[in-house]
Amino acid sequence: MRVLVTGGAGYIGSHTLVELLADGHEALVVDNLSNGFQEALNRAKQLSNKHFGFIDCDIRDAVSLGKAFAAFKPDAVLHFAGLKAVGESVEKPLAYYDNNVGGTLSLLRAMDAHGCQRIVFSSSATVYGTPHYLPLDEAHPLEPVNPYGQTKLMVETMLRDWAGDGRKACALRYFNPVGAHESGRMGEDPRGIPNNLMPYVAQVAIGRRDALNVFGNDYDTRDGTGERDYIHITDLAHAHLASLRALDDLADFEALNIGTGAGTTVKELVDAYAQAAGREIKCYYVGPRAGDVASTIACPKQAQAKLDWTARLNIDDASRASWHWQSQNPEGYGE
Ligand code: NAD
Ligand code: UD1
Repeated sequence: MRVLVTGGAGYIGSHTLVELLADGHEALVVDNLSNGFQEALNRAKQLSNKHFGFIDCDIRDAVSLGKAFAAFKPDAVLHFAGLKAVGESVEKPLAYYDNNVGGTLSLLRAMDAHGCQRIVFSSSATVYGTPHYLPLDEAHPLEPVNPYGQTKLMVETMLRDWAGDGRKACALRYFNPVGAHESGRMGEDPRGIPNNLMPYVAQVAIGRRDALNVFGNDYDTRDGTGERDYIHITDLAHAHLASLRALDDLADFEALNIGTGAGTTVKELVDAYAQAAGREIKCYYVGPRAGDVASTIACPKQAQAKLDWTARLNIDDASRASWHWQSQNPEGYGE
């Protein structure tokens, strides 16, 4: 397939791009580099040894986007582009609605104008809000608790309404993406202080930060620390390829959980990382972070059945891959 990849210079997009090219697809990346890296694209080119196009533009720029569609004539879109920081979305909600909702609207208009009828969208487990039960299945109520989550739900709603008459949309509700490419050449490179756990732990291990603040140790979990379903970035990338393959046989709109079905606590993740890095990870136990829940775990059965996909890698694999990346690239992509 000819696949247009929005946000392909970002963390998940760049890793998926490499697997996409390895699977024999052609790709055109559209990214405004607001949170992505030119160097990630350079490395994707080296790793895949394949050519792909790149257009440095905002997906809200209808003219540039239209030119990209006209020139490349994609069969499908993988839509990663968007803003993703929960805290920032509370401070700047309109920026999130503008980018995530407005950006997708612009993208769907371009798809319609150029007869492109297939899209796979990066949704998030955040659409469920506070869990009423675990594991979270797709029938769980959708009650996002912050503007970021609202934008993901709005885009899902938009896709549901857009789909039909040959148009197919699949929203993948990612749980917690972690890890890096096995080569150690690509990985996650957060700008500023990492919000998420594994990149923070990685920076402690490499000595860029002194210690991890563990947010809460009195939760109702095995060891009192928060529990999440961490999905290896390579498994996540493969879920996108599986979605592209399955799209024509799925319902017009599908929303599927992408997780492992197993939980890992903060303490377990820190232990796995310390083992992978052969270094101690200093931790301070502090109070819970506002908005956090004790546990989230995916029920991934629908994705397994409908996409013929399953997660194969675990938290030890992800910790080793992350450390491989972090130790070889202490300053990330260095941009
Ligand atoms: P990322 O920030 O690394 O990648 C997003 C990319 O999109 C960046 O390269 C950025 O420059 C680009 N971008 C943003 N707005 C754009 C615009 N208007 N036009 C063109 N390019 C634009 O984030 P990521 O972790 O790779 O996440 C990818 C997607 O997956 C996002 O939609 C995110 O909300 C979603 N998601 C991420 C996680 C996670 O934990 N990383 C979890 C669930 C869902
Ligand atoms: C966060 C987002 C969520 C998003 C998800 C994946 C919030 C409130 N939620 O969730 O919307 O879908 O990332 O991108 O931001 N932790 C620490 N110390 C740290 C960082 C995290 O102890 O420095 C703990 C957290 O309390 C949590 C676990 O580690 O128990 C995972 O945290 P994180 O990586 O931020 O993911 P989520 O909390 O699931």
